[in-house]
Amino acid sequence: MGLIDDIEPLKQAALADLKAAPDLAALEQTKGNWTGPHGKFTALMKQLGTLSKDEKPAAGKAINAAKADLETALAERRGELELRAALPKEPTDFTLPGRRRGPGKLHPLTQVTEDIVRSFRKIGFVVADGPEIEDEYHCFDALNTPPDHPARDTQDTFYLNVAQASLPAGSGGIPASGPGKTPGNLLLRTHTSSVQIRVMQKQPPPVRIIVPGRVYRRDNPDPTHNPTFQQVEGLYVDKNVTAADLKGTVEFVFRELMGEDVKIRFRPHYFSYTEPSFEIDFTSALVRKMGKDWLEIAGCGMVHPQVFETVGYDPEVWTGWAFGFGIERIAMIRYGIDDIRLFYENDLRFLRQF
Ligand code: DAH
Repeated sequence: MGLIDDIEPLKQAALADLKAAPDLAALEQTKGNWTGPHGKFTALMKQLGTLSKDEKPAAGKAINAAKADLETALAERRGELELRAALPKEPTDFTLPGRRRGPGKLHPLTQVTEDIVRSFRKIGFVVADGPEIEDEYHCFDALNTPPDHPARDTQDTFYLNVAQASLPAGSGGIPASGPGKTPGNLLLRTHTSSVQIRVMQKQPPPVRIIVPGRVYRRDNPDPTHNPTFQQVEGLYVDKNVTAADLKGTVEFVFRELMGEDVKIRFRPHYFSYTEPSFEIDFTSALVRKMGKDWLEIAGCGMVHPQVFETVGYDPEVWTGWAFGFGIERIAMIRYGIDDIRLFYENDLRFLRQF
């Protein structure tokens, strides 16, 4: 018997061995035993050199064919074992119900905003919008805010280090109108009051708008501050508008939002774009439960005649009021939340509760 007769039995033994490998590690071991440097099949190939010239071609051909068969068998077994390794260890019970992904929900701040908007719509207000990237003119100048006001300070306001022209269309930075007015530096709006100006510049009175939106201030995050938060601005311009209308409107909306036992009070304050100006305090059973008598909730006042002049409304004809309040504050009272940062962490354990 020559070498050529050893090939087939050796191949059959190797094939049986590969097929029997119980896992991937064993398969690699088996492969080594046959075709590794000291493998049995390798040893056979090494003997090829001892054959005569006549025997060599046929034996070489047979060995190569056998080697190809071994490689095919190896790949096949590897595929089987890989598939098996990827299957679950425990048997699958196909009769169990699937793991459902429940429908998504609106963020609590969106829910509160929608409630606020719904209440104002009942009494004839429409929603207006403006850019979050604002210019100094709309955020401060046109609102009668003096150049040295601390709100303009870089400690309080995020300024943008870009030229107006480099901004994409619609992202803000619409040049101010009116003689001698320059838009000034670009910034992230510090309040939604800038939208009052944009709306009044675009349309004649009467105006009855609310503006929910995101605002930015250079505050360090703590339980009651976050560098971005949400406000709702309101503006009402018509003939013979009074502070009594303002109080009645605010009271109506807060009762709708927080319940019938809500009380509000106005305290004198200063804002450059209203005269007189007030802060609105709010109380309810919920507020008292939090251990407080009153909570400051909004700023408001009668629109300053200078603001009307700036947008081209005749202050002798038109009167109006405006307010702005923080949405997080309202949501915190409503849901008994003691840290504003929870709204921005996107922790599902928090969000699923609403
Ligand atoms: N913009 C003020 C703020 O961010 C709130 C405010 C006060 C808005 C008085 C008004 C207003 O429209 O009339 O604190």
